[in-house]
Amino acid sequence: MCALLLAALCAVAVSSPLWAHAEGPAATEAMQGAAQGIADPSLNARVESLLDRMTLEEKIGQLVQYSAGQATGPGTGRTDYKDMIARGQIGSLLNVTDTPLINEYQHIAVEKSRLHIPLLFGLDVIHGFRTEFPIPLGMASTWDPALVEKASRVAASEASAIGIRWTFSPMVDIARDARWGRIAEGAGEDPYLGSAMAAAYVRGYQGSRLDAPDTLAACAKHYVGYGAAEAGRDYNSTEISEHTLREFYLPPFHAAVNAGAASLMSAFNSLNGVPASANPFTLTQVLRQEWGFRGMVVSDWSSIGELVAHGIAADDQTAARKAFMAGVDMDMASSLYHDRLRQLVQSGAVPEPKIDESVRRILRVKLALGLFEHPYVDEAHAQHAFFLPESLQLAQTVAERSLVLLKNVPPAGGQPLLPISTDVKSVALIGPLADNPSDPDGVYPSVGAQSGALSFPAALARRLGESNVLRSKGVGILQGSDQEIAAAVAAARRAGLVILTLGESPEMSGEAASRSSLGLPGRQQELLEAIVNTGKPVVLLLFSGRPLTVPWAFEHVPAVLAAWFPGTETGPALVRTLFGESNPSGKLVVSWPRSVGQEPLYYNALSTGRAAGNVDLSAPAKDADARYVSRYIDEQNTPQFPFGYGGSYTTFAYGPVAVSQTQLSAADLNQRLSGKAGASDPLTVVAAVSNAGARAGEELVQLYVRLQGTSTAQPVRALKGFRRIALALGETKKVTFHLEPDAFAIWNDRNQFAVEPAKVTVWISPDSASGSDAKLEILP
Ligand code: BGC
Repeated sequence: MCALLLAALCAVAVSSPLWAHAEGPAATEAMQGAAQGIADPSLNARVESLLDRMTLEEKIGQLVQYSAGQATGPGTGRTDYKDMIARGQIGSLLNVTDTPLINEYQHIAVEKSRLHIPLLFGLDVIHGFRTEFPIPLGMASTWDPALVEKASRVAASEASAIGIRWTFSPMVDIARDARWGRIAEGAGEDPYLGSAMAAAYVRGYQGSRLDAPDTLAACAKHYVGYGAAEAGRDYNSTEISEHTLREFYLPPFHAAVNAGAASLMSAFNSLNGVPASANPFTLTQVLRQEWGFRGMVVSDWSSIGELVAHGIAADDQTAARKAFMAGVDMDMASSLYHDRLRQLVQSGAVPEPKIDESVRRILRVKLALGLFEHPYVDEAHAQHAFFLPESLQLAQTVAERSLVLLKNVPPAGGQPLLPISTDVKSVALIGPLADNPSDPDGVYPSVGAQSGALSFPAALARRLGESNVLRSKGVGILQGSDQEIAAAVAAARRAGLVILTLGESPEMSGEAASRSSLGLPGRQQELLEAIVNTGKPVVLLLFSGRPLTVPWAFEHVPAVLAAWFPGTETGPALVRTLFGESNPSGKLVVSWPRSVGQEPLYYNALSTGRAAGNVDLSAPAKDADARYVSRYIDEQNTPQFPFGYGGSYTTFAYGPVAVSQTQLSAADLNQRLSGKAGASDPLTVVAAVSNAGARAGEELVQLYVRLQGTSTAQPVRALKGFRRIALALGETKKVTFHLEPDAFAIWNDRNQFAVEPAKVTVWISPDSASGSDAKLEILP
């Protein structure tokens, strides 16, 4: 690159954050205390004064939570909540979304119960409340933690307006298998990005002061390993080595804890034979002793009762004891703490001081939220918190940035289909996902109010004129008829361009929605082929809560956009993107498989001893070198699209990668890792990124590291930094990353986080499978 251009480079610097690894309980506590208020020592006296006056029954009451609204799991059969609340036997309710009812329950708790302790109302507010943002997988695809923080702030102010003060979010489970329906609810497969997102959600929900009336206590879930459900089948068992747990599954939880999360939820899955809701290693040793977590742990729905089905408890009594002794403070929905804890204390199986500890944690959260001072909500005010113009604007921005352009290849000698040319006067809008009003909300739909935002067809009609949008459903999501397909083909023939909306319904991802195949459901593939065979230009919008295996589409359709479920502003966001007012910049946070048999598929895998390397895996293995490698005989190893991939209407060019040092010292890095000053500066890694295309755009620049020669095998690439940059036409920016020691720390063969001597490769790249690299070495 010429000197003149270099001089004009604008610098963008990024530091790797320290959220990924343990810094010891003391440091952690300081961070949590500052951010959350639950560790505030000024709460101690009030907690102790309440505790002193509580009977054992009232103490246990604080540990009990029931659902008093729409069930999000199998029922407990109880309905007598009002009497129980008056007797101080319930500490929290979930799923109540009716403001007068919330106030009614709260009046009973505050006015009729002996100690006037308010209830804490919880709900799954996972991607907005009334103003819906994209599903979390889409939110993560923005790679924009600041934006996610703002979205969570909006969610908190809307939900708190009706009296909800606790959200069961963020879901920070690492998900490597698209068959698992709950991949939709998280930030994908990477622990570094997952940690950044986890912290962003927590900061957004909890605000700068938890006692402000518009905050939600966050709940990082599902602790831990839930995303590794065997065969992608929800609730299934998991086997995760400590090495993998420490390097991949635990870091996002640690990040949430360090960001000040008030609570964590223990998961359904059994983890290495010990269910996560009764697992002393994760709940006590890691969470309390290593991380110094001061907040509370709630079980997942009935996961305490389910210990019997898991087979580690012969009866309910044992289930309650095991969960409680392992470190679960509050029982969601199983009723076993209510039914059994008293007897367990009286028999000496559960020490009362341990009950006191759990009660303290729950009271601290209630006090820190300011619930004692402001237990009720103003029903009249609630409506004014919803759909504020700035919230809708934010929802549109997040929706636009969540869209991932998977393909936009020009036909020979022509222009790419996207953005849609002004020459296109009429469009056929075909497919089952074009306009189902509940669809754009995705998993955990909002409580039902409509925002007045334009639907996708309405937004398209506003753009092109009603008569220029030819509508045809084609087929339903799960079924359709020959006649419907024929009608869609006829509509396609009359239009200048087809926008095809295919995919899954929102109910096909999320909880209890695992799939054994990842293709288009029903007759959608037939519809796709029939429409493409008309010869009309086709833009395919895929709506889904997971990657879908549609290799035929990627081969035959010139333009494909992964839309996920974009939320309230689906219509405007899609139209602005299709017509080029917004240039796509989302990137995949999950590896997109070619076929379901590749799952679990993730970029940050370990190398095998027989890595395929340069072997051509599309050809049958003829000789021994090509045959005896880690491969499929009928499929490539690579994904359809790698983690981090996403296109733009412009193109970006990456320059060579330069590092500030080619030798680092492990001893020095370890000293800095343990919080002591080291002799060296952070490693600086730099590359120039240019906009080489024909319009302005934003690029997500990614930094990856590989370590070789360490005592435990490390991923072939691991994300250690990312940055969104805006580049005007022809502009170049120098992107600088400062790598702190934690970027090189591994869980080693002595079961410790440490930096070891290694050969290091560093990439600055547009995705996890390309880019140029630089080499350096970590010496002893
Ligand atoms: C889910 C949790 C959710 C809870 C409460 C459970 O079934 O696993 O993620 O927070 O229900 O709705």
